[in-house]
Amino acid sequence: MVPFVDLKAQYGSIKSEVDAAIASVLESGQFVLGDEVTAFEQEFAGHCNARFGIAVNSGMSALHLALLAANIGPGDEVITVPFTFVATVAAIRYTGARPVFVDIDADSYTMDVRHLEGAITKKTKAILPVHLYGQAADMDRILAVAQRHGLSVIEDAAQAHDAEYKGRSVGAIGDLGCFSFYPGKNLGAYGEGGMVTTNNPDFANTIRMLRDWGQERKYEHSLKGYNYRMEGLQGAVLRVKLRHLKSWTEARRRNAASYNERLSDSFIQTPREMPYAHHVYHIYAIRTSRRELLLQILSAREVHTGIHYPIPVHLQEAHSDLGYRSGAFRVSERIAGEVISLPMYAELSEENIEFVSSAIRTCIDG
Ligand SMILES: Cc1ncc(COP(=O)(O)O)c(C=O)c1O
Repeated sequence: MVPFVDLKAQYGSIKSEVDAAIASVLESGQFVLGDEVTAFEQEFAGHCNARFGIAVNSGMSALHLALLAANIGPGDEVITVPFTFVATVAAIRYTGARPVFVDIDADSYTMDVRHLEGAITKKTKAILPVHLYGQAADMDRILAVAQRHGLSVIEDAAQAHDAEYKGRSVGAIGDLGCFSFYPGKNLGAYGEGGMVTTNNPDFANTIRMLRDWGQERKYEHSLKGYNYRMEGLQGAVLRVKLRHLKSWTEARRRNAASYNERLSDSFIQTPREMPYAHHVYHIYAIRTSRRELLLQILSAREVHTGIHYPIPVHLQEAHSDLGYRSGAFRVSERIAGEVISLPMYAELSEENIEFVSSAIRTCIDG
């Protein structure tokens, strides 16, 4: 059996550090925000070369508050991609703004910047690129368009901790960056968690208030806020894990290179790392027009796989009121029908990579 992710193996490798960190929170009684969360905010922001980090209780909350800080609301439009996890789009809808989609690029699976300018209207306020699977979108080109039209840029970096664009960390390239620390993420909490990163002190201040009932001082509510606070235990666990992130990223990259080499002569398409990107392989997705057959073969050998994502958001029932039809975004729709995510994590062994790859090769060799 090859699991899709192996959180137990990771815990085993850092058990004593994590157990001590958890015990210290239990001793301190700081269960919501507190010193561990504040320290983690500073350390994670530093890791991203951002001036500020504001910890929240999920990636979804990070996106929601980043959009609110950028003053987005009813009547506004935000441009994003349909080939993403639904949260990207749901966050836009939380604000009352309308998501407007542009298709993705067939090599990078991120926003195809050639379509961006054509999607801009008088109502457009922001661009929300997604660093899908752990690979940065083409930020310089996106920022150039944003600058020409006076738009904010909010990065959905939920899958892209430690990822780089032209040597710069994602999260502080646009105006705001949004991360998720869902347990299976490259930097995962032991529960839910998220973070907004920014260099803008006004945004940081607004988000800090919005995550805690809109209060600057206790029981003085100047904004209509939320309960989006990070728990102390998550801050403590994430601080421990952040110390290991670079080595886990390198292990993921080695595993990806190993898959690439073993699958290079096969009928499947391996992921392409763009020249500007330092891909962190949150997801290692291959593409094939024979997906059903391959899924059967892998499942028969107890190789656990995923599909990220089988239905692009513009075709999801929940968002059918936006009025998009099948055929609207051909690249997203084609790729949604062809991708398979293979097991990928730092602790994945060479033997398992070989086992998965040879199962895939039996499919071609007949
Ligand atoms: C691209 C993307 N955006 C946003 C989110 C939302 O993060 P969370 O699950 O922490 O709310 C996720 C998480 O799966 C994601 O993959």
